[in-house]
Amino acid sequence: MKTIKVNGIEIAYTRRGTGNPLMLVHGFPLDHTMWNETAALLEDDFDLILPDLRGFGESATVETPYFMNDMADDLAALLDNLKINEIAIAGHSMGGYVALAFAKKYPHRVKGLALVASQAAADAPDRREGRYKTAQDVAEKGVGVVADAMTSKLSTMAEVQSFVRAIMERQIPSAVIGALKAMAEREDMSATLAAFSFPVLVVHGDEDALIPVDRGREVKSLVLAAHLTEIQGAGHMPMLEFPKETAAALKILK
Ligand code: MLT
Repeated sequence: MKTIKVNGIEIAYTRRGTGNPLMLVHGFPLDHTMWNETAALLEDDFDLILPDLRGFGESATVETPYFMNDMADDLAALLDNLKINEIAIAGHSMGGYVALAFAKKYPHRVKGLALVASQAAADAPDRREGRYKTAQDVAEKGVGVVADAMTSKLSTMAEVQSFVRAIMERQIPSAVIGALKAMAEREDMSATLAAFSFPVLVVHGDEDALIPVDRGREVKSLVLAAHLTEIQGAGHMPMLEFPKETAAALKILK
């Protein structure tokens, strides 16, 4: 991994493959390694940029509150450093929220947007409250609380569960707390999405227990030209459960 100081923070990233640039943004509370299997299937087609969002993986943590826009700014500054002006961006779940914030703020830099197991909607009030409660629990008891609550919802496949659980357990509390609060405060992006002029792609497992497939279908209904791929039998981690199907869907961004 390489590290670049952007916006005063050390942001780590991996770059692999050749072709048009595509950034793969990880979900919560994970890091870029969740994309490894799918990246191997995409590297003949794309110049892949795989960042660790602030706090996660090998990127530095930030103790003061931040928002989706700040994470989007980190990605924009990373791309500035890499001298990449325009890029396709695919975000998984929380990574999709960051990708949406990036696309809203920097639409001229976006060649295509993929939301993988993600959504445009903001949190309902009870979900938002739950995030703050979880943040408090993580502060008191550590990230195991989140790993315990999330693992079975991410996938029903035992090997996927153990792979993602190991990623979750190596994240640090301040990153998990910061991201929970940033997710709680994110805005509804439905109106923004409808106005995007670049290609929008939705990839969703029809058995996603964390963000139901209806949320992906909602995005498709907001952007009539969007391309929706529903992966049969996939849960919240299609890039690990069905890497070939996920990679094939993402190749539309070429
Ligand atoms: C994720 O998988 O990134 C998050 O769980 C999404 C969310 O909690 O909204």
